[in-house]
Amino acid sequence: MLVRIPGILGIDAVAHFRRRLEGADWVDGRVTAGYESAKVKRNTQLPEDSAVALELGDAILTALEGSKLFISAALPSRVFPPLFNRYGPGDGFGAHVDNAIRQGLEPETRIRTDLSCTLFLSAPEEYDGGELAIDDTYGTHHVKLAAGDMVLYPSTSLHAVTPVTRGFRYASFFWLQSMVRDDGQRTLLFDLDRSIQLLSADQPNHGSVVPLTGVYHNLIRRWADL
Ligand code: NI
Repeated sequence: MLVRIPGILGIDAVAHFRRRLEGADWVDGRVTAGYESAKVKRNTQLPEDSAVALELGDAILTALEGSKLFISAALPSRVFPPLFNRYGPGDGFGAHVDNAIRQGLEPETRIRTDLSCTLFLSAPEEYDGGELAIDDTYGTHHVKLAAGDMVLYPSTSLHAVTPVTRGFRYASFFWLQSMVRDDGQRTLLFDLDRSIQLLSADQPNHGSVVPLTGVYHNLIRRWADL
């Protein structure tokens, strides 16, 4: 399931992020790539322990905690500290699958990567190319969102970033371990939650709202690991 989460960051926050990122020190992006990915990866990143990455990463985590759509879609258990990348002209990232396990700087930051997240920090008109191309059973989805918007996709997906031919593409990327590891079960829960929200907004006193909410929570009880 691919989910777009609009407006994780507002215009002012994006502008602040960009000022901080444009003044930061960038390194070769292959520092976080596995053996196979390193062969097809060409970009720059902020080091994981850079003060700018830690500060902006914390701001993203705070923003995510306030997003009902994100919580409902991801059912997050543990979120990896957000990282930051930049693709300039000639940069890109060929087809790859993200590593199953990610170890951050601290021992407790080891997670199973169930969902991958890309938060766009450049407006689409600032650069050409640089689309996130995600494969699923329906084919390839080309994702290029407004600055401040985020896409969530299963970490099991083959994906790529198409070459940038003009301008710079700034983004934050990170992974999370979900309380519900199976994408099919998580998708059902998301669909059920959205349906209950629609029903309760439309007919707040409908007799099915409470029982359906019970079904939702009982499925989580059945499927969730903390
Ligand atoms: Ni990737």
